[in-house]
Amino acid sequence: MSEPKADDQRPKLEIDKVSKAYGDFLALRECDFSVARNEIVSIVGPSGCGKTTLLWSMSGLHGVSGGEIRLDGVPITKPHRDIGLVFQESNLLPWRNLRGNILFPYEITGETPDHDWIAHLLERVGLKGFEDAMPGALSGGMQQRASIVRALSQHPSVLLMDEPFGALDSFTREDMNRLVEEIWLESKTTIVFITHSIEEAVFLSDRVVVLSGRPGSVAAIHDIDLPRPRTDEVMASRQVFDLMNAIKGGIAGARTKAAE
Ligand SMILES: Nc1ncnc2c1ncn2[C@@H]1O[C@H](COP(=O)(O)OP(=O)(O)O)[C@@H](O)[C@H]1O
Ligand SMILES: [Mg+2]
Repeated sequence: MSEPKADDQRPKLEIDKVSKAYGDFLALRECDFSVARNEIVSIVGPSGCGKTTLLWSMSGLHGVSGGEIRLDGVPITKPHRDIGLVFQESNLLPWRNLRGNILFPYEITGETPDHDWIAHLLERVGLKGFEDAMPGALSGGMQQRASIVRALSQHPSVLLMDEPFGALDSFTREDMNRLVEEIWLESKTTIVFITHSIEEAVFLSDRVVVLSGRPGSVAAIHDIDLPRPRTDEVMASRQVFDLMNAIKGGIAGARTKAAE
């Protein structure tokens, strides 16, 4: 095996004292953390604390008001083909079938799709055979799986997910969490995952970043030092119970502080 390159030691993403204002309203204040190559980091925090704002900044969909976000050491200033995005709503075009939705980004860029990879991804997420289906005919879980395929189809090295399974029932959500873990174990993408669910954050993450409420800033960072894959047995352990309570306590503290 070859030695890792010096580059591999550098964080994949650096969120360097990032502030973001919407006019006079400060949504984020000096958020500071980094995400290592191949790491899964979840961001949790009270509603309205700026999680989506931070993810949009990381994706280059909007700029920041202060600080900088770097991908492989280079500032992110606009959407980047190396960054895949999955939103809470699947954002599939209702008038196009699944194949048409997945190929849509390629029609815009004029790039040639990697059909073998897309076929592999569709099979991987259990959507093989549904290429001709219209989004409206699919369940919410299937629609989100399709948007994961769309996001991964361009081989991004970073996947940003904003409460992707928030609208799903808890059984489907557990299935989807396992799917994300499996895809990550296979592809070793770097993942930043926003969620309301502390259990989901603990299940998926190497670290969990807790944001305090308005303006959002980093209140705590928890290491999730659990073996993978995270079996039911691992998730039922005392260690997970303690971790979840510590994170819950941190969010409650952040909420109280925001209300003061
Ligand atoms: N485009 C916008 N213009 C003005 N305020 C916004 C805009 N987007 C979000 N906000 C405000 O910024 C704060 C953070 O929003 P958001 O990032 O969506 O929080 P979260 O995802 O944590 O719920 C909220 O108070 C929200 O109302
Ligand atoms: Mg949000």
